[in-house]
This record gives sequence, C-alpha cells and structure tokens, in this order.
Amino acid sequence: MKATRVLTGITTSGTPHLGNYVGAVRPAIAASRAAGVESFYFLADYHALIKVDDAARIQRSTLEIAATWIACGLDPERVTFYRQSDVPEIPELTWFLTCVCGKGLLNRAHAYKAAVDKNTEAQQDPDADVTAGLFMYPVLMAADILMFNAHQVPVGRDQIQHIEMARDLAAGFNHRYGNHFVLPEALIEEHVATLPGLDGRKMSKSYDNTIPLFAPSEQLEKIISGIKTDSLAPGVPKATEGSALFQIYQAFASPTECEAMRQAYAQGISWADAKHLLFKRIDQEIAPLRARYQELMAHPEQLELLLQAGATKARAIATPAMARLRHAVGLRDLRSQATITSIKPIKTALPSFKQYRESDGKFYFKLVDGAGKLLLQSQGYASPQEAGLNVKKLQADPRELANLMAMLNLTFATGALLEEALKALQQLKDAAA
Ligand code: TRP
Repeated sequence: MKATRVLTGITTSGTPHLGNYVGAVRPAIAASRAAGVESFYFLADYHALIKVDDAARIQRSTLEIAATWIACGLDPERVTFYRQSDVPEIPELTWFLTCVCGKGLLNRAHAYKAAVDKNTEAQQDPDADVTAGLFMYPVLMAADILMFNAHQVPVGRDQIQHIEMARDLAAGFNHRYGNHFVLPEALIEEHVATLPGLDGRKMSKSYDNTIPLFAPSEQLEKIISGIKTDSLAPGVPKATEGSALFQIYQAFASPTECEAMRQAYAQGISWADAKHLLFKRIDQEIAPLRARYQELMAHPEQLELLLQAGATKARAIATPAMARLRHAVGLRDLRSQATITSIKPIKTALPSFKQYRESDGKFYFKLVDGAGKLLLQSQGYASPQEAGLNVKKLQADPRELANLMAMLNLTFATGALLEEALKALQQLKDAAA
C-alpha cells in the first residue's frame, strides 16, 4: 500500500507558545511516528513575508521554530523537514496555479474579505493596505500542498477554506492539463482542544495572551501566576468548569492527575497553589525539551545543515515533478519535436438539448450550453414526439432561431442572450458535421 502523504506548514512570523505546542507541534510529531504515513513539515517563510517586514524577526522566528520542532522530537530522518524558500519549485508552481485561478475565488478568501470589510467599515478604499501577497496567499499555500501531492493537511479550522481552494486549483489544473495533482483534504484534529490563554480566550498571538513555550523556568512560573481566575479565597470550593487554569492543566496531565486536581478544586485549593501545581506539571514535560532547544539555538549552523538536507530531500520530489508540469503546460525544449504531434485540440463540453417530463404531465425541452448554463426553455407539449420534433427543427438551421422562437413559443432563460443560443446551436451543428 502506498503511504499517505501528510503535509503541513508553519508560518515563521512568531515565537512558539504553549498553544502551538499543544495544538500543533505535539500532535503532529506523534502523528509523524505512525506507520504508513509519509510526513512533510516545512517552515513557511514565504508566507511570513506577507505579515512581517522585519527581516531580523523573520530570521529569528525561522530559527526558533526549526529549533522547537527538532527539540520536541521531530525526527528529520523519518520525515521531510524543510524551509519553503529553499524549494524554488514552489514559487514556480505558484505561478502555474495563478494562471488557472479565478480572481473571484481569491476575492472570496476569508482573510482578504476580512481586510476589505475592515476597510469598508472605516470608510477607506476597500483594498487599502492590502498587498497582492495577502491576496495571493491561498495560491502559494496550494502550491506548497500540490507540489508534494499531499493527501492530508492537518490544519486549524481557520485554514479549511485554503485547503478547499487548493482542491479547486488542483481540479482546475487537472482539467486543463491532465491528472497531475492529488486533491488534498484538510485533517482537523477533533480531540485536540484549543488551549486558553492567560485571559481565558483562545491562546493566540493576536490576543497577546500567550505563554511562550520555552520561557526559562522562573519566567514560566511568573507568567503562569498571571492566569486569570475568579477571586474566591483559599478554602472556598472552586469550579473546574470554565477555569482556564484547569483546562491548561488538562492538556498536560494524565486522567488520574486531572482527577486529583478536580478534587483539590472541590476542596478549595488556593489559586496560588493551583498555579504552582500547573507550573510544575508543565515544566515536567517541557524542561527536557527546553534544554535541547537552548542547545539548538546556540548552534544555528546545525539547524541550517539540517534544513538544507531537508531541502535536498524535498527537491528530489519537487524538481522532477516540476519538469513534468512544465512539459504539461507547454514550457518545453524546442527540440522535442515528438511532442508537437501530440497537441490535442482543447476539449470543451458541447451544448445540449435536454428533454424531460414535468409533474404537470407535459413534455419539455431546454437548451444548455457546455458549462451547463440554461439558454432556452420550451413550453409544455402533450407528447415527447412533439417536443422531439421541435428540437429537430431548431437543430436544422440555427439561423431560423428567431422565427422558431416565436412560432414554438420558446423563452430565453433569464440572463441568456439570443447570441448565446445561436452560438450553442451552431456549435452543435458543427459537431454533428
Ligand atoms: N497558512 C498556514 C497557517 O497560517 C501555514 C501554511 C502555509 C500551511 N502553507 C501551508 C499549512 C501548507 C498547511 C499546508 O497556519
């Protein structure tokens, strides 16, 4: 059986926090150890350029995120771990996909639409401060995925639309140039809870409520002491439900430990003590990873080598794939005459007449164009023969359309034009000739 390809990217625009660890890094590394999967993890640094124009921060974040994944146990021997910008085939594929991407598809992307809505609300130009990079974000992401023909893409819910767009682009490209791409699927980890942040809302950089994953021990304890709680005094029983502190604890503790914490809440543990227990539990899991992380951070040259080896592995797939795609679209060596004979006329679906019976018992026909757009609609006839005869009349001579329309009492579908119907009839006639 062929392995399932799983691929995901991490934008190199920030410093990893506990939410990233619990929600993405930890489950992804666990999944990469499963049998029958072939995993691709990459640092999406081209994507980072869309959000961040601080070069030092891009570099720093790339280093931190690479160190985080390795420190948390990602095995670069087992998976393909690389940096997006080390694979020049990706931007090249981005262009190919751009050329099959309807602009309207991108107009509907959530991130772009949100920016437009915000501008509109502020009575600004709708596209104020929107770069073409932001607009094109989904195409670059589709190239990331399609380059390696990934089957599954583990992402957060906010990214589902992007995966659907990647599917659309894959299908659009396949339709034009043959079956080159697997249609990817989003993989949503249902059982991985989103971690609340210091203020109880989802832990996220945009809420400024994060706990850095590898803050030194003392700092971690201090930050944890800032988690929002109610003001119940020590000795007063506390509810675990709705307690951010408890939820974070759950993400690290075993069921038995959670049960003990639940009892401690019921018995009125002080918030200070609960926070200390939480700190201890997190630190127990993180401390060994932190040590490894600090070591890696002190040796960027090791990570650089590792990423370059990853790029070599990734390009062993991307380079030949891109060569096939270049050929498929017609970017070819001019000496390859053999291929010239294989040029096929573009196949488009033909218009067609559809005959059917309605619930009123009468027989109808309609004319639709190759894309399925309704052009002409007949009235109801008493017999299928009568409907069929009229279809024949229309097919006989497209130039008679206008006359026949009146004679047969036909109507144009809303929005359809005489020219369109004429063209469709002519296409049918040409095809029959
Ligand atoms: N857009 C993703 C995010 O912000 C990152 C990303 C870039 C990605 N390319 C990808 C994720 C390809 C999965 C597959 O989280």
